[in-house]
Amino acid sequence: MKTNTEKFGTTPHQPSLWTRADALKVRADDPTTTQPLVSADFPVLNNDLFIWDTMPLRDLDGNVTSVDGWSVIFTLTADRHPNDPQYLDEDGNYDILRDWNDRHGRAKMYYWFSRTGKNWEFGGRVMAEGISPTAREWAGTPILLNDRGEVDLYYTAVTPGATIVKVRGRVVTTEHGVSMVGFEKVKPLFEADGNMYQTEAQNAFWGFRDPWPFRDPKDGKLYMLFEGNVAGERGSHKVGEAEIGDVPPGYEDVGNSRFQTACVGIAVARDADGDDWEMLPPLLTAVGVNDQTERPHFVFQDGKYYLFTISHTFTYADGVTGPDGVYGFVADSLFGPYVPLNGSGLVLGNPSSQPFQTYSHYVMPNGLVTSFIDSVPTDETGTQIRVGGTEAPTVGMKIKGLQTFVVAEYDYGYIPPMLDVTLK
Ligand code: FRU
Repeated sequence: MKTNTEKFGTTPHQPSLWTRADALKVRADDPTTTQPLVSADFPVLNNDLFIWDTMPLRDLDGNVTSVDGWSVIFTLTADRHPNDPQYLDEDGNYDILRDWNDRHGRAKMYYWFSRTGKNWEFGGRVMAEGISPTAREWAGTPILLNDRGEVDLYYTAVTPGATIVKVRGRVVTTEHGVSMVGFEKVKPLFEADGNMYQTEAQNAFWGFRDPWPFRDPKDGKLYMLFEGNVAGERGSHKVGEAEIGDVPPGYEDVGNSRFQTACVGIAVARDADGDDWEMLPPLLTAVGVNDQTERPHFVFQDGKYYLFTISHTFTYADGVTGPDGVYGFVADSLFGPYVPLNGSGLVLGNPSSQPFQTYSHYVMPNGLVTSFIDSVPTDETGTQIRVGGTEAPTVGMKIKGLQTFVVAEYDYGYIPPMLDVTLK
């Protein structure tokens, strides 16, 4: 097992650590960091489709952007199969939960548009069938590049492998709606290297996905965040003093937590267009704490770097736990050191009475947090549930120094633009 210095060198930075001690501070159901209960009578965006990860069109600085007054979101999307014999139970009823749980294998990028930042109208698939090189089109980021409407869609091409790719197209508007044209040539950018970021050969459960490109407000260069796991054979990671942190007596036992090795990766572009990338050591690691830090993204505020990432209860390591939701870290410069927000990292979690009500939170620079509805209990015991596959109510949050506070709740899927670009 290599030390961090052997693995990552001394420049440009050492990854910051989310420690077991930090995670011990997680308090589920703290009202300032808990998403309000989602009611089981939620409306569904589209009865033929499941939608989940939601990716607002934005610029490279992170601003959610409309075009000619039209808001645009991209979503991971899969058909619902209410009549497919494969998804009928022994009584002939549609087993929606099984269909929903299988969705990742057939995820495709779709887009939607709206005049009001909600009540999204169906756009369609972004890429025609056969364009994307692999079976699954997983999460990423659509970037509006200019006032000609050019869009770079960064996403993850998964199965076989997991490759961060991009495809360029154009957004076109009329009085009546929005269409996406082009998106015909997918360019592979990079994959896990096995030195800094774990590969499939090192761990069949590796994660490498969810690109989030951005321009650093301080140095102006083009970078990209992504989800990864720390390189090394599964089981070979060491949960030492640094990963454990300052724990009380009796909390030194790390159990099998060496199997949880999430990190937030970063790459820097070698060119202005973002076609040529160099992976750098992770910004943040969670070895011994959690196995997934998904969809990492930034809010740049008050000269600080607020780093957000989503994670699950089931991906926590032995001896630590927390709700499904979004976690956050803050630093004064891009390469850290990062410290957990609210002491623990927890920023917005599901209430323990509805642990799966929402997921895939995305914090926007205006403090609004969008997510999707996963499943909501319909009875007291929580044995009956209603599957979502649709937009959750948006939450309003205040970010203040090292803390965050839930302050408002808005309509389902409310994603208002922060600026509008008039297309030439
Ligand atoms: C988050 C996520 C992403 C991934 C996608 C797969 O909900 O797990 O990390 O890209 O969903 O469906």
